[in-house]
Amino acid sequence: MEKIGVVDFGGQYTHLIARRIRQLGVYSEVLAPQSGKKDIQGFKGLVFSGGPASVYDEGAPVCNPELLEGGIPVLGLCYGHQLICRMLGGEVKRGSVHEFGPAEFHPDPSHPLFAGMSPSSVVWMSHGDEAAKLPAGFRRIGYTADCDLAAVAADAKRIYGLQFHPEVTHSEEGNAILKNFLGLCGCSFSWKVSDYVKPLEDKLRAQCAGRKVFLLVSGGVDSTVAFALLNRALGPERVLGLHIDNGLMRKGESADVLDFMKREGFRNLHVKDASADFLSALKGTYAPEAKRKIIGETFLHVKDRALAELRLDPAEWLLAQGTIYPDTIESGGTHNAAVIKTHHNRVGAVLELLAQGLVVEPLADLYKDEVRELGLLLDIPPKLIWRHPFPGPGLGVRLLCNENARQVESGLRQKVSSYLEAEGLRGEVLPVESVGVQGDARTYAHPCLLRGLRDWAAAEKIAVALTNRLREVNRVVLEIGALADGYMSVPASCDRHSLDFLRDMDDLCGAFLYEENLYASLWQMPVVLLPLEKGGKPVVVLRPVISSEAMTARFAPLPFPLLDKLWKKLRTAGAGALLYDVTHKPPGTIEWE
Ligand code: XMP
Repeated sequence: MEKIGVVDFGGQYTHLIARRIRQLGVYSEVLAPQSGKKDIQGFKGLVFSGGPASVYDEGAPVCNPELLEGGIPVLGLCYGHQLICRMLGGEVKRGSVHEFGPAEFHPDPSHPLFAGMSPSSVVWMSHGDEAAKLPAGFRRIGYTADCDLAAVAADAKRIYGLQFHPEVTHSEEGNAILKNFLGLCGCSFSWKVSDYVKPLEDKLRAQCAGRKVFLLVSGGVDSTVAFALLNRALGPERVLGLHIDNGLMRKGESADVLDFMKREGFRNLHVKDASADFLSALKGTYAPEAKRKIIGETFLHVKDRALAELRLDPAEWLLAQGTIYPDTIESGGTHNAAVIKTHHNRVGAVLELLAQGLVVEPLADLYKDEVRELGLLLDIPPKLIWRHPFPGPGLGVRLLCNENARQVESGLRQKVSSYLEAEGLRGEVLPVESVGVQGDARTYAHPCLLRGLRDWAAAEKIAVALTNRLREVNRVVLEIGALADGYMSVPASCDRHSLDFLRDMDDLCGAFLYEENLYASLWQMPVVLLPLEKGGKPVVVLRPVISSEAMTARFAPLPFPLLDKLWKKLRTAGAGALLYDVTHKPPGTIEWE
C-alpha cells in the first residue's frame, strides 16, 4: 500500500495533515522524529509537521538525519520547514513580525508544487520564527508580505518547505498544494475510507471480549455515536449508558437527551442529577485548567458512585469514552505537543485507567467530520448529527471566573490606546484574560474591545493586525450593544445563579439562530459570560465561528440588524452588554475560558 509518513514535531495540526492526505486518497501514518531509514521503508514521501518550539530552543525536537537522506520527497511545514533549513546548513531567525491567521501568498507559478494555483492565495500562518538563509541547493518559490521565504525548494533532492499550513481549511488552496506534493511523490490516489464501520466493530468486539462497557453519554454527537456504535458492536445487554446532569448543561438539555434516546429505542440509558456534586466541587476554583480538572474528576467520582448504585461489578465493566482525535492532541497527547487545554477525558484518573487498558475509545482516531459521517451510517438522525459541538465541561468553561476584581496593567492599556488612536478607532483592553492559541502553545491574554465599528471586513483586518503585533492581546470584540457606564471587573464564580443566567442567555441565542435560519451556517456559537459588569449587569460574548474540524476557525459575521434585535432580547433578560468576537483561531480558541 502506498504510504506517506507525517513526522510529528508536536504541532497541533500533525494529525490533520495525516487526515488531509487520507482525504486525498493516500494512506498516511504519523511517525516519530526518531524514526530511521528502516522505519520509512515503503513510504512514498514524508511531511514534517509544525511544532510549538523554536528550532533554537534547548531540547527542541530534531529528526533523525536519515529521514532527509532517504531519497524520498520531504515537505516541511512551519517548524518542519525551519528545521530542515537549519539541519541542512541554513539559518532561522526570529521574524520581525509574528504572523497568526490569514496572509496573502504569492507562489512561483512555474513550480510543480503550485501547479494549477492562482497567482495569489490566502494561506494560514502561525509562527514567530522564519527561515532567513537557505541551505545550499535551495531556492525561494513563494513569499508573503511579512515572510520572504514562505516557500522553498531543493528540486534535485525533492525537499520542499512551506512556512504556512496548507493542511488547514482556511488555507484556500492548501489541498491543491498537498495534492501536488503527493503527485511529486508518485502517489496514485487509490486509498478509500471504505467501510470503516466493520473493522471498527471487529476491533471493539476484540477489545471488549468477555466484558461489558459503561459509557457516559452527554447527548452530544460524539458520545451519541460512540453509544450507538457500541450497542451495534456488542449488543445492548453489554452496554450501559449514563447521562450525568452536571449542572453545566444547556437549558432543558438532560430531559431532551433522555427523550431522544427513548424515541430512538435505546433503553439502556440512565440519567442522574449530580449538579450539586459538581457545583460544590467547583466552589472556590477560578482558573480554567483547574476547573477542567475538577469537572473531569467529579465525572469519575459520580460515575463510580452510580456504578456502585447500579451494583455493577467494576471488574466486569470497561469505561468507554467518546473521545475524538483533536481532544487527544490538544491535551499534549502526542509526544512533542504543548498542552493547549486538558480535555476532561484526559484527567489523571482516566490516564491511569488508560494505562491499564481499561478504557475503550471507539472514536479516538477520528475527526469530527468523520464521526458525523459514521453517525449517519449508523442511522442517527441528521438533526442530532449536525448539532453544534458542546464541550464536555459545558458552561463550566464558558462562565469565566475571577477570584477578585482585576485591572489592566497601565503599560498595556497605553500601548493599545496609542494603537487604536493611530488607526482612528475607539476602544479599550478589557480586564479579562482568556485562553488563546498562538503558535502551537496556549496563551492567556486580553481581549480588546472596539466601539462603534460596523464593518466586518475592517473588524477582521484590525483583529488580525492587532493580535499579530501585540502578544498581550489574543482577541478582538465588537460592542454590539451596551448599557451606559464603564466596564467593571467583578469577582465571579461557577455558582448556580450565574450558570442559570448563562443558560438563559445561551437559550435565547440558540433560539435566535433557529428563528433566523442561521444555525446550519455555523460550526458553533459559544455564548460566554465574562466576569465584568456594564451598568451593573453581566456582560455576554457571542463567539460564532465557521470551521470544519475545530483545529482552526474563522469568526462568522452575522447581519448587524439581527444582532441589534438579539441585543434587545438579551438586555430585557438582564444583560449589560453584548460583545461579538471577531478573532479567528488562531490566535483565539473557539471557546473562551
Ligand atoms: P477550542 O476552544 O480549543 O475548541 O478552540 C475546539 C473544539 O473543542 C470543543 N471543546 C471540547 N469538547 N470536551 C469536548 O468534548 C472538552 O473539554 C472541550 N473543550 C473544547 C470546543 O467546543 C470546540 O468545538
